[in-house]
Amino acid sequence: MAPPLRIGIAGLGTVGAGVVRMLSRRKDEIALRTGRPVEVVAVSARDRTRNRDCDVSGMRWFDDAVELARDPGIDVFVELIGGSDGIACRAVEAAIEAGHDIVTANKALLAHHGASLAAAAEAKGALISFEAAVAGGIPVVKTLREALLGNRVERVSGILNGTCNYILTKMQEEGLSFEDCLAEAQHLGYAEADPTFDIDGFDTAHKLTLLVALAFGVQPDPDAIHVEGIRSITLADLTAADELGYRVKLLGVAVRTETGIEQRVHPTMVPKHWPIAQVSGVTNAVAIDGDAVPLILAGPGAGGDATASAVVADLCDAAIGRRGAPFGYPAASLRQAGRATIQRHEGGYYIRLAVVDRPGSAATIARHMAEQNISLESIMQHRRGRPHGGDRPESAENPAPVVLITYATTEDAVRHAIAAIEADGVITAPPQMIRIEKD
Ligand code: HSE
Repeated sequence: MAPPLRIGIAGLGTVGAGVVRMLSRRKDEIALRTGRPVEVVAVSARDRTRNRDCDVSGMRWFDDAVELARDPGIDVFVELIGGSDGIACRAVEAAIEAGHDIVTANKALLAHHGASLAAAAEAKGALISFEAAVAGGIPVVKTLREALLGNRVERVSGILNGTCNYILTKMQEEGLSFEDCLAEAQHLGYAEADPTFDIDGFDTAHKLTLLVALAFGVQPDPDAIHVEGIRSITLADLTAADELGYRVKLLGVAVRTETGIEQRVHPTMVPKHWPIAQVSGVTNAVAIDGDAVPLILAGPGAGGDATASAVVADLCDAAIGRRGAPFGYPAASLRQAGRATIQRHEGGYYIRLAVVDRPGSAATIARHMAEQNISLESIMQHRRGRPHGGDRPESAENPAPVVLITYATTEDAVRHAIAAIEADGVITAPPQMIRIEKD
């Protein structure tokens, strides 16, 4: 048998400890199937004394992750620290400089510095593997980089954040508040250290940049993405969506267009019968439209075991000796991403307005829609006692919630119509607008 592959792990949180346990539990099977033992020989974490529920005895301990990254006694540096800059970035650069292979779960790091790190790794002949950075345990990186190489991919979309999907599912199914659902997601270890990354859409955007690089050969660039999170979604929206035959999901979408790759992250209404609408809780799903093979992958998108599984898969690849460019394209061939212009987006829209209940309000709204050439598919207004109508009579102080569904139109037209409606004073609260995806 070949000599062991020597692993150094920086970051012993839920995922790091999970990797140590999984490598120990699956030791014999992994050695048999990769042809060599995969052994953790060194670790680095902030607190030596913390009980981690994994056995680190016999492993060398480094207080400084950069020192571990430079250690000639390792072959692979596993970065599980997180963050786009700071120690994680310095440690990965040091490990590449030392000629080590890298395995990382750090989507923020690769979203911001993926192109330059890929070039540096290529120059050193080092691997950067990041299956764990996108959609947790789902093997979507390998699928795009290897399994679908014969396909021209037209579109990649998906539910890429477990925390958001968990919150939206819980709110919808149990009628709970956003805050309660977020607290539960944090308690279960799904959310990022700073959960604003999850709920404001940045975590999804970071992951989408990596899918875009793999699918379209474009440099990861978070600034090229239009990003909206789920903070503004209310129970009223989820209830109205349900009545209209939709579910609300935070989707990351990247589409090949004539002018480049359109990249966007926002809450989206999808028909209930679509497979992606049925993906609930912390589960992630990625839909890939290859010209030969359209497919959907679904699985656990967050949590220690799921993410550890992806890290271990990358380590096994390194043990087998897989080589290749991090994003599947030579770094020098990765094109720059153009900035998405969401105003040009075309589709149906859900618009919820808190309308002042007086004669002419509806006519004003209809007129502004017509002026923008927007055709309405449905108009829904609930009166007293209904789920989002409230139980007081409508009045100027207690406005009537009106939900409009448009036929396909442009974002530019919707924005102009809403601005004109606001300017005419017929609504009393900021309007809600959710894009609809349908057949
Ligand atoms: N906070 C992330 C999520 C973890 O909720 O999906 C996995 O990246």
